[in-house]
Amino acid sequence: MGKHTVEPARAISGGLEPPGDKSISHRYAMLAALAEGPSELRHFSSAADCQSTLECVGALGAEVRREKELVCVTGHGPRGLRGSKRALDAGNSGTTMRLLAGILCGQKFASTLTGDASLQRRPMRRVIAPLREMGAEIKAREDNFAPLEIRGGDLRPLEYAMPMASAQVKSAVLLAGLFADGTTSVSEPARTRDHTELALEAFGVPVEKRGRMVSVHGLVFGKGGGRLEGRQLEVPGDLSSAVFFIAAALLLPESNLLIHNVGLNPTRTAVLDLLASMGGAIRIVSPRVANGEITGDIVVRGSELKGGVIEGETVALLIDELPMLAALGPFTEEGIEIRDAKELRVKESDRIAALAENLKRMGARVEERPDGLRVEGRAAGRLHGAEIEPHGDHRIAMAFAVAGLAAEGATRIRDAECAGVSYPEFYKELERLAER
Ligand code: S3P
Repeated sequence: MGKHTVEPARAISGGLEPPGDKSISHRYAMLAALAEGPSELRHFSSAADCQSTLECVGALGAEVRREKELVCVTGHGPRGLRGSKRALDAGNSGTTMRLLAGILCGQKFASTLTGDASLQRRPMRRVIAPLREMGAEIKAREDNFAPLEIRGGDLRPLEYAMPMASAQVKSAVLLAGLFADGTTSVSEPARTRDHTELALEAFGVPVEKRGRMVSVHGLVFGKGGGRLEGRQLEVPGDLSSAVFFIAAALLLPESNLLIHNVGLNPTRTAVLDLLASMGGAIRIVSPRVANGEITGDIVVRGSELKGGVIEGETVALLIDELPMLAALGPFTEEGIEIRDAKELRVKESDRIAALAENLKRMGARVEERPDGLRVEGRAAGRLHGAEIEPHGDHRIAMAFAVAGLAAEGATRIRDAECAGVSYPEFYKELERLAER
C-alpha cells in the first residue's frame, strides 16, 4: 500500500460496524486456549495483533480454526499447553507479549517470547518484576526488553500494588495467579480496563473485586479457584477503532453516522463522556449486556467542539484515544491539552513526539511536554494537508487520516498499512463513508 492519500470531505455519513474489540479478542483467545473443550468466538477482531495471539496459542498446542470473524479454539485445560520449539512471535502487540508472559510463567516448560522492532523497544520490566516475585525465571535484554526467555512452573501467590495504571500488567499478574498456590491480588493506582476480570468470569473463574483491588485463586492446586470451560462468546465492536469515525463525524458539520455493536464497557467510554462534555452530539441507543460486557449503537452528528484539558485518572481510561483527541485539537475552540500521560511515550511509538511532529507538519501550533502536549485551537489557523510519518504506529496513521478530512488540500500517510495492526479495513471504510 505504501502511501495513502486522504482528500478533504464534507461529511462522514451512513452506517458502520467496527471490528471486534482487540483487548477482548486477545483475552478470549488466551482463556479459550487454557479452558477445557471447544470455544467459539464470534466477531473476533480482524486486527493483526489478535492474529499474533492466535498464532502464539496455536504454537502452544491449542487447536485454532478461523473462518473470517469466527474463531474456534480448543484448549486442554490450564495444564494442557505444550512448549513451542520456536520463539513465540507477538508481532507489534504489547497485549500479546505481556499477557502471554503471565500465562507462560505458570507452565512447566521454557518459552521465548519475541516481537517486531517496535515491541522490542517497549518496557517489559513492568511485568518481569512481579512475575519474578511469583517465582518465575525470566531473562530479558538489558533486563527490560524482548526477547523474553521464560522458565515457569508452580508459582507463589502475590499481593501486588501496581506502580503504574496498566491493564496489561494487571492482567499478566492475574493470569499468572491462575497457576499460584493461593490467592493473587493486584491493586491499581487508577482504574484501568477490566476485560480480563470479565473474561475470567465468562469462562467460569470467580474474581473478587474490592475497590481498586482484584483477586483470583489458583486453579491448578484444586483449592476452589473454579474451572475454565470452553464457551461460545461474541466480541463487542472496538470502541477504540470506532473513535476515529466518531471524531471524523464530529469534525465534519454535515455528518450523520450510525455505528453498530460497539463495546461500551465503562472502563472504555471516558472518551465518549469527554467528547460529549466538549459539545459533541453523541447518542447511545439500545445498550445490552452479554458476558459482563455492554454493547450498544452510537449515533454521531457534526458538532462544534469546545476543547479542554485531559488529565489525572481519566488518562488511563482513554489512553488509546489520546492520539485522536490530540489531532482534534486544532479544530476545537480552546484547543486540547493532555497532561499526566507519560505512558504515551512507551506505546507502539513515542506518541507524544509523533503527535507533535505530525501536527506541526499540518501547520498546528503545538507545545510538547514530558508528559503530554498542548495543541492550540482554531484561532491558530486552519490545518493544511501534509505528508504524515506515523512511525509504524497504527493509531497515529488513523488519527491523521481523520485530521486530513478537515484540512485544506491532500494529506498523504506514509506506511499507511500499519493501520492493519488494529483496523485492516480502516481506509476502505473511511472512503466508503466520506461524502465530498
Ligand atoms: C491494553 C491496555 C493498554 C492499552 C493497550 C491495550 C489491554 O495498555 O494501551 O492498547 O488490552 O490491556 P497498558 O496496559 O500498557 O496501559
